[in-house]
Amino acid sequence: MCGIVGYIGSGDIKSRLIEGLRELEYRGYDSAGIAIMQNGKIESFKAVGKLCNLEEKIKNFTARSHGMGIGHTRWATHGKPTELNAHPHMSENSYVVHNGIIENYREIKRMLQENGINFLSQTDTEVIVHLFETEIKRHKELFDAFKATIERLDGAYAVLLITKKAPDTIFFARKGSPMILGRNGKGEIFFASSDAPLIGEAEEVAYIEDGTIGYVTKKTIFSQPDNLLFVPLSGDKLTAQKSGYRFFMEKEIYEQYDVMSDTMIGRVLDNDIAFEELDETFMEGVSNIKICACGTSYHAALTSGYLFERIAKIGVNIEIASEFRYKKPLLSPDTLFIVISQSGETADTLEALKMAKKAGLKTLAVCNVDNSSIVRLADATILTRAGIEKGVASTKAFATQVMVLWMLSLYFAKSRKSVDEVSIRDEIRYMGYVPKVLQKSLEVHEKCKRLSKRYLHGHGFFFIGRDIFYPLALEGALKLKEISYLHAEGYPAGEMKHGPIALADAELFTIALMPKTLLYDKIKSNVEELSARDSTILSISPQMFDLADDFILTHPHKHPMLEFFEMMVVVQLLAMEIAVRLGNDVDMPRNLAKSVTVE
Ligand code: F6R
Repeated sequence: MCGIVGYIGSGDIKSRLIEGLRELEYRGYDSAGIAIMQNGKIESFKAVGKLCNLEEKIKNFTARSHGMGIGHTRWATHGKPTELNAHPHMSENSYVVHNGIIENYREIKRMLQENGINFLSQTDTEVIVHLFETEIKRHKELFDAFKATIERLDGAYAVLLITKKAPDTIFFARKGSPMILGRNGKGEIFFASSDAPLIGEAEEVAYIEDGTIGYVTKKTIFSQPDNLLFVPLSGDKLTAQKSGYRFFMEKEIYEQYDVMSDTMIGRVLDNDIAFEELDETFMEGVSNIKICACGTSYHAALTSGYLFERIAKIGVNIEIASEFRYKKPLLSPDTLFIVISQSGETADTLEALKMAKKAGLKTLAVCNVDNSSIVRLADATILTRAGIEKGVASTKAFATQVMVLWMLSLYFAKSRKSVDEVSIRDEIRYMGYVPKVLQKSLEVHEKCKRLSKRYLHGHGFFFIGRDIFYPLALEGALKLKEISYLHAEGYPAGEMKHGPIALADAELFTIALMPKTLLYDKIKSNVEELSARDSTILSISPQMFDLADDFILTHPHKHPMLEFFEMMVVVQLLAMEIAVRLGNDVDMPRNLAKSVTVE
């Protein structure tokens, strides 16, 4: 995903920008560029490919001390990864870098072109800088021109803009894409898309809020609204990387809001789903899908099974990779073989992929790590764009996998013409609400914290759900057992009476996922059966349920996937708070590794 850096100060501007971009490399990118302002002149350099290509280009350029600059790593969304499409984008006097998507860029571009402005790139970003030049003519103050520009933009953005008209100023705006402002006692000011480039450089940082717009000079920091709250940034990489959270897991649960927008950018469009990674003929000759994965990724796969069949109307078969490997599976060439992996290195999943390739199947990887073994081997890859996941218990990687798979089910539905356009539009509209559903809820977190003290003993947990909430129940149980070391199982609610209900008593904890939009009455009956046998019940639902001993109230939603994502956060937080109370190492639970490269 794109990364942004900005710098004002008397340090070596060139290396400050390049080193900052290097820290953002993990987000994935295909071109990079910088613009440096010194003595009222702006020099800009861009290169396709890795940062070393950009470094090669600027090796003979010496930046004097004092000045400022902006930099960008681009992950192509609008237009191919070329030098012309790389940021910064320029107009007569100004340069801009941008993360996100300007949804109404076509109409702005048309309007600007009608007024005689020429565009050099195919990007949505370039409209910002031309619009700014136009607004300069209408406003006395440059900040007013910048504000008027930003007000015209729909979509998601983190923007930095510099102009020869104000050679000491960086203008900034944020909505939907992350941006952090940092400063130190040496008078240096930094911008970055995540805190990684700021660690060891900035002493304090302000996490710029959505809807904030402002400017920075060496002496002034101005924002509207006036809401920049600077907090100390630890110089210790590990503490600083946690951004004030107690654990990486906690940080990653809350990051789901930001990364989900990254996952969707350029893919979930107004009335369409697009994957640049897949060509139009991708589904030709495919009549069914097989998915292989392990652990949490397997749960994402199970969730997608419901979506593929229901939305894309295509048969799906899902297998745990370690089982698949040795069963001498029958593979037929009309099967699309999908592997799902956070790390891209999981030995069993990789081996399953090799088997499918050997059998001549078309293969697709859904993965979080670019250039990983699985990505290199698969015919096509869709990156989940969750950013580095440090907590061993996977959270944001799962969320983004499910999101990609939901988007894929719609993409396949479109190419197979299995749903009408109105339904596609409806589904897309609901997708747009997902980041909001993942927003931090202190109330829910507090409730999980309070409830956690009642769930530290007992002889076991059953997480139960139906339909897509069954894999979520599996995932909730896996999260809990991984970090609390308590026994937990996920079960389809309707299956309890076929055996496990024999375990029911007051010391059996049932965590019931009770969405209102999907089979509510059915799961209610299943929970009633457990309650009649005295099981202790924690219900997670938007509807109060009088037989529940405890309750976590979720918001009412109109689409099951929105309920899914909200309940996902609840089970993640609950598992974490129980583990914290038990005094466990949440980020590095015993016996587990982040990347399982052995069989
Ligand atoms: C659980 C977890 C594991 C992984 C599994 C597969 O929190 O992280 O269950 O999901 O080891 O790993 P990847 O997704 O890297 O293939």
